[in-house]
Amino acid sequence: MIVCVCNNISDREIRQAVELGITSMDELRRDLGVATCCGQCASYAEQVLQARLGQTVDANAAAVAVTELSFRTRQAA
Ligand code: FES
Repeated sequence: MIVCVCNNISDREIRQAVELGITSMDELRRDLGVATCCGQCASYAEQVLQARLGQTVDANAAAVAVTELSFRTRQAA
């Protein structure tokens, strides 16, 4: 779905940008141009950004937990 009509930026592109390391609206503005024209998309773009950041943080936390579990399992053996 298109989030920023002025710059033709979709929610998928915002999520991909987060996967590539973007963590703030300032970075989204700088790199994708989101919310740099009329600004009507800023609120929804922020929601998409925060939702994806939350998923990314959860995924990273799960990866750390699995790594720690693997380490403990190896030590116990
Ligand atoms: S819709 Fe994003 S700047 Fe206008």
